[in-house]
Amino acid sequence: MKDLLAEYKNIFERQLQDIIAEYKCDIQPISDALVYAVSNGGKRIRPSLCYLGADFCKKDPDYVKNLALGIEMIHSYSLVHDDLPCMDNDELRRGKPTAHIVYGEGMAMLAGDALLNMAFEVMLDDVNFDINMRNAMRYIAKMCGINGMIGGQCLDLANQSKENFGIKELTRLNRLKTSCLISGALVGSAIRCGADDNEIKALDLYAQNLGEIFQIVDDILDRTSTEQALGKQVKQDIANDKKSVVDLLGIDNARKYIKKLENEAVESISAYGQRSQKLVELCKFLSNRSN
Ligand code: IPE
Ligand code: IPE
Ligand code: MG
Ligand code: MG
Ligand code: MG
Repeated sequence: MKDLLAEYKNIFERQLQDIIAEYKCDIQPISDALVYAVSNGGKRIRPSLCYLGADFCKKDPDYVKNLALGIEMIHSYSLVHDDLPCMDNDELRRGKPTAHIVYGEGMAMLAGDALLNMAFEVMLDDVNFDINMRNAMRYIAKMCGINGMIGGQCLDLANQSKENFGIKELTRLNRLKTSCLISGALVGSAIRCGADDNEIKALDLYAQNLGEIFQIVDDILDRTSTEQALGKQVKQDIANDKKSVVDLLGIDNARKYIKKLENEAVESISAYGQRSQKLVELCKFLSNRSN
């Protein structure tokens, strides 16, 4: 899985460089800020999920190229805004100073906005635009909006330090803020590739569990890892008075909970046998990631 993700990352970085050259503008410093925010590393898990969604439907990564670019632009914008002083107030991202530290808050906000617009511009420019691509984009728009990632970020901002914030509330929050974009990548890609309703349902269930795992691991690493390993500040959830699964369950039980989610994720796609093998491996890989 490590090798496959490295291969996918290479494919993505090449396509990103081409698209940046094609779409960037000559207005500064917004153009530089946008490029800085999207091309500054990152694991590229969401584009990889797009490619795996295509693989599940027996298509090449190239078939979902514009979707993968769009999804990572949306993810990168969400990180730029997530790091702003009015949100998590972070100064380090992907091993470098955050966009607002380099370009100022106003410019970082605009760079995030511009990335979101560019994402939809790039997806609309898919050379084989058809009804499946339209439906995939509709799905992604919902998954990154108020009934998805933004809704989750809203709960994250407004509700976390509240007394009555339990595992049920936290699960809802994590699914919205993180699982939705993960589903946008995987299920959006499957929709683009013409997947049927049963496949879409199974992949969405998998993605919901995978996203929750991804966020809980992120929350554990926030407590246990280092700035150097993660490329971002650690112990930020404590600094921001944010309750995570680590606070509610403790680290050992959080890991058991991850195992349970892993079983559910694997179970949801088990009917597809060999076709879903890479997704099974990805889930195990991400459950045990250290950065
Ligand atoms: C960070 O996402 C935000 C979360 C949802 C936890 P990633 O851990 O995928 O960040 P990059 O893209 O690799 O920097
Ligand atoms: C961010 O979650 C999720 C987003 C939707 C951007 P976190 O706030 O925990 O992500 P990091 O730790 O800053 O990467
Ligand atoms: Mg946050
Ligand atoms: Mg954050
Ligand atoms: Mg975090």
